[in-house]
Amino acid sequence: MNVRRHLLALVEELLRLKANGEQNVVVTEASLAKLRRAIAPSTVVPEVAEPPLAPESTAIFSPPLAPVPKKPLLVTSAASSLPSIPAKAPVFILPAGDKRARWEALKEKVLGDPVCQQHVRPRKKMVLGMGNFDAQVFFCGEAPGAEEEIQGEPFVGPAGQLLTRMIRGMGLEREEVYIGNIMNWRPEMPIDFGGLQFGNRPPTPKEMNYCLPYLKAQLEIVQPKLIVALGATAAGGLLGTESVRTLGEIRGRWHTFDGLPVMVTYHPSYILRNQSNRSKRMIWEDLLKVMERAELPISEKQRRYFLT
Ligand code: URA
Repeated sequence: MNVRRHLLALVEELLRLKANGEQNVVVTEASLAKLRRAIAPSTVVPEVAEPPLAPESTAIFSPPLAPVPKKPLLVTSAASSLPSIPAKAPVFILPAGDKRARWEALKEKVLGDPVCQQHVRPRKKMVLGMGNFDAQVFFCGEAPGAEEEIQGEPFVGPAGQLLTRMIRGMGLEREEVYIGNIMNWRPEMPIDFGGLQFGNRPPTPKEMNYCLPYLKAQLEIVQPKLIVALGATAAGGLLGTESVRTLGEIRGRWHTFDGLPVMVTYHPSYILRNQSNRSKRMIWEDLLKVMERAELPISEKQRRYFLT
């Protein structure tokens, strides 16, 4: 069997479905075991008995979609198989100069960082935050995803498109804010399909800790009025993972990081998965607080967005 050809066909089909708006696919345990055997022929992967085929499990995808699996698509407990991260975070002193020159120096340092280089996958890019160097509002996500590691820019995939709409809702353009991430590379999954990675995982505290000096350097360059932490992982990276138990406990309130006010709110990808008016209203309430603190003009229409 030409495994590579079959896997590429599978990827094509996944991308086609994604382009058509599908967000979930069903994969049986038996199919997963076959995939594992196919990509790691030298590894002994236990056979999983084929269950009797239910109508929705006859193919990897089956419209209408069966209940969403609770587990990530690629399952392996081999977190320890990932390359290790040094406990010591890099030390970097920003050079003197104007903001652009300092940002360029930082970018050179991040791109040349041997740990970052070791983790970024072949033909993929590291991602440093970007935007307006005089921005008042600094959005901080967790880590690049599939589109970001291809383009080398933060928030350019579906979550990024929603973030752009949120920023516009605040009466700003994307070019007026700064957008960064705690992490500079896409956290790799333990299983890699010959250079293709499916799915994302949140970065570990150790990974975030390693990249944090680079985020701090960006804050030092931009000197924003405030930070918006997008999601529990970004909040944990900034505020300390031990202090973040659930997002519900900390969102919508002001916290502090490096002397800067931090508003914690939902990650746009959460809103993409939960398109309820309730979640949209909650994120909007948080953004109204950001607008107030940043002293941005707020129209009556903006105030009443989700009340009407
Ligand atoms: N999610 C993030 O947290 N950051 C990105 O850059 C993209 C998606």
